[in-house]
Amino acid sequence: MKNVLVLGGTGFVGTPVCELLLRQGWRVTVPTRRRANAELLHRRFPEVRLLELDVHDEAALTQALTGHQAVVNLVAILHGTADAFEKVHVKLPQKLARACGAAGVRQVVHLSALGADSTRPQSAPSMYLRSKGQGEAVLLQAAVLGQHAGFDLTILRPSVIFGVNDKFLNVFAQLQKVLPVMPLAGATTRFQPVWVGDVAGAVVRSLERTDIACAPNQPLVLELCGPDVFTLRQLVELSARLSGVRGGRGRPVLALPRWLGRLQAALMELAPGEPLMSRDNLDSMKVDNVASGKVPGLSCLGITAASLVPIASAYLGRK
Ligand SMILES: NC(=O)c1ccc[n+]([C@@H]2O[C@H](COP(=O)([O-])OP(=O)(O)OC[C@H]3O[C@@H](n4cnc5c(N)ncnc54)[C@H](OP(=O)(O)O)[C@@H]3O)[C@@H](O)[C@H]2O)c1
Repeated sequence: MKNVLVLGGTGFVGTPVCELLLRQGWRVTVPTRRRANAELLHRRFPEVRLLELDVHDEAALTQALTGHQAVVNLVAILHGTADAFEKVHVKLPQKLARACGAAGVRQVVHLSALGADSTRPQSAPSMYLRSKGQGEAVLLQAAVLGQHAGFDLTILRPSVIFGVNDKFLNVFAQLQKVLPVMPLAGATTRFQPVWVGDVAGAVVRSLERTDIACAPNQPLVLELCGPDVFTLRQLVELSARLSGVRGGRGRPVLALPRWLGRLQAALMELAPGEPLMSRDNLDSMKVDNVASGKVPGLSCLGITAASLVPIASAYLGRK
């Protein structure tokens, strides 16, 4: 049996990734900052081994990786300071590359984000995307140059991800249940949402790939997108239609001009807890979040991307 360590395995993408890995016969270990954060995962999949661990502690990470053939990195943050993005999206991949070398791990799958660019990280519009690009570059360098003994690397760049517990369509639907109108920044930005089940499938196929005709060489970089493109406004309207808010009509969408959107985001950043939207999120939306067409997609792994409407109507409608 092969062993895989799934960093960030307790999250939205992590749970279906662990499920598929178990189904494929992998022995799965998930580090978590706090055991309580893994409660849901543990309840659903008690066979997943949990480790309470600070993944930013390189010695502890190296020890955790020992005895594993593969690692999947799903750790990321959506909001924070430049230092926080650097710590999680750049320094962690650096430590991971060194730790893989020290522990003899030969396969790495890293979740990045659509819009990140390892060749020109600074050209991206937000701290989130710039740091994601830098993180990719770190891992590519380690894999290509065979630094730290080298490893097989797959980088996956998803567009926004939908699925049962997403914080995207579910949030739009919830907001419309309580607000009289939907003030929306970035209403015209286009997205190509991808299903969480397809993202999980891509992670597992990446680990098990033997012959990939469309990209036979190492390392593999893929953009993960669904078949349909929507503007943000269309997604908000769709979430209302599928969840039946006001008989499916939803609330009127009030597209905010850029300056007002920034003010709204700045105020949201002041609220306690994770902001619904930050100024950095708005910066990410300065460019469309759709496939570039320059790198292969899900079909490269033999996956036919699922459409949003049938899947989202099942889980939004149920709620
Ligand atoms: N969701 C999307 O729409 C989307 C779109 C594009 C790309 N992605 C990428 O896909 C990957 C998975 O996303 P996700 O939505 O599953 O994320 P998520 O639900 O937020 O899960 C991330 C996990 O990382 C761990 N984590 C968070 N902050 C950390 C920190 N500062 N230090 C150490 N560990 C930390 C947490 O585990 P513990 O609490 O157990 O420690 C958490 O469960 C990420 O790389 C993300 O950038 C996601």
